[in-house]
Amino acid sequence: MKASFGPGSAPLRGEVRLPGDKSMSHRAVLFAAMAEGTTLLKGVLNSADVRATIRAVVNLGAHAELEAQPDGSLAGIVRGWGRSCPLPWSGTIDCGNSGTTSRLLMGVLAGWPAEVTLIGDESLSRRPMRRVTAPLTAMGATFTLTETGTLPAIIHGRASIRPTTYVSPVASAQVKTAVLLAGLRAQGRTSITEPSLSRDHTERMLPVFGVAVHVDPSTHTASVDGPIVPKAPAEFVVPRDPSSAAFLTIAALLIPGSKVKMPGVSLNPTRTGFLRVIERMGSGLEVVPWPETEGERVGAIISCHAKSLAATTVTAEEIPSLIDEVPILALLATQVAGETRFEDVGELRVKESDRLAAIIDGLTELGADARVDGDTLVVTGPTPLHGAALASLGDHRLAMTWAVAGLLASGRVTVDGFEAIDVSYPGFAKDLSGLVGD
Ligand code: S3P
Repeated sequence: MKASFGPGSAPLRGEVRLPGDKSMSHRAVLFAAMAEGTTLLKGVLNSADVRATIRAVVNLGAHAELEAQPDGSLAGIVRGWGRSCPLPWSGTIDCGNSGTTSRLLMGVLAGWPAEVTLIGDESLSRRPMRRVTAPLTAMGATFTLTETGTLPAIIHGRASIRPTTYVSPVASAQVKTAVLLAGLRAQGRTSITEPSLSRDHTERMLPVFGVAVHVDPSTHTASVDGPIVPKAPAEFVVPRDPSSAAFLTIAALLIPGSKVKMPGVSLNPTRTGFLRVIERMGSGLEVVPWPETEGERVGAIISCHAKSLAATTVTAEEIPSLIDEVPILALLATQVAGETRFEDVGELRVKESDRLAAIIDGLTELGADARVDGDTLVVTGPTPLHGAALASLGDHRLAMTWAVAGLLASGRVTVDGFEAIDVSYPGFAKDLSGLVGD
C-alpha cells in the first residue's frame, strides 16, 4: 500500500492515547503464558508483532482470551502452562516480522523437551539468530539454523538445561531475555553481562511474576536463580509505547504551532534516550512523571514546537536507550543547526531492514545531508527537505519516519509499503490526521 504525506502540515494539536508498549506487551503475554495461574492483561498492543506472540503461546498450550477494547488495545486473561507445559510439542510457529517473538521463544523453549520450528517473513529470515542460540547452546539446548545463522530455526530443547554465566558481545534485550528465561528452567544461577545496559523490562517485570532478578548495575549484569516457575499476578497493565511517542514528539517539535500531549507513556530510562537527546538539543519538552506502577516509570510527554535546536553527539553508551528511535532522530537532525553524530550504530544494519543504509538513502532522496563514517551516522543540518518517493522496505519505523518527513517537506512524500506500520502502531495515520484536524 502506498501512502502520501504533505506537502507541509497544519500544526499538530491535541492529546493522543498511544498504543501499548511493544516490548512489554510481548513480555506480558509470554510471562503470563509461562506462569502458574491466570493473569488479567490490560493495555496490550494490538499489532501484528504481538499477535504473533499470542498465537505462539496458544500453540504451546497457554489459554488466551484477549479482546480488542474501544481504545484499540487488547485486554483479557492468559492462563499459563506453569509447571505442566503440554510439551513435548512439535510443530511450526510463524513469528511474522517479529524478532522479539522468535528470539524470546528460543529462550522459553530451550529448557523444555520441545522440537519446534520457527519461521518468519522475508525480513525476519535475514536477521542474525546466533547471538541467541550461542548462549542457549552452551546451556545444553541445540538449534538447527540456516548456514548464515538465520531462520528457519529448529529448537531442540532439553529439560536438563544447565545454568550459564554469559558475557554478551552485544547490548541486546532480546539476547538478555532469552538467556534469563532459559535460566528459569536450569538448576542454579544464570547470569548475563552486556557491554552497556539494554532495555530492562525483563528485569523489572519478572519480579511482578514472582521471579527475583539480581541486577549489578556496575557491570550491567542480570541473574536469575532456577529452577523457578513464574506465578501469575492478578493483573498486569502495559504502559503506552515511548517508541511510538517519538514520531509524534518530533513531528510536534518541528511543525510551528504544534502542541501534542501523550499521557500514560513508559518513561523507563532505558527507553527514553530520545527525550534526553531532544532536551540536549535545546527543546522545551515537558515530561510529567506519574507515580511508579509495577516497577515502571510512567507519565505524560508534552511536545511543543521548538524554535531553535542545536546538533549533538549521541554516544555509543546512549545508543541502546534509543536504538529504535535513530531513524526519526536522524530526520530531526536534518532540521537542526550543525553536525549530529550517532556513534556506534552498526546494530541498525540488522534491524527489520538495513536501517543505516535506508536512513542515508531516504534522507539523501529528501535533500538532506547524511553519511556514514565507519559505524557513526553523521547528519548535518539544517537542510530544507523536498518531496520524494520512498519505501518502507517492510520496516515500520522507516514507514513512520518518512510520513513525518512528508509533513516537513516542500513536496509530497509517498511511502510505498506503508502497511508495515501494523507491526507496532496500526493507528499511526489516524492519530496523525486527528492531530492536524483532517
Ligand atoms: C527489543 C529489543 C531491541 C529492540 C526491539 C525490541 C525487545 O532489539 O530494537 O525493537 O523487546 O527486547 P535488540 O535486543 O536486538 O537490541
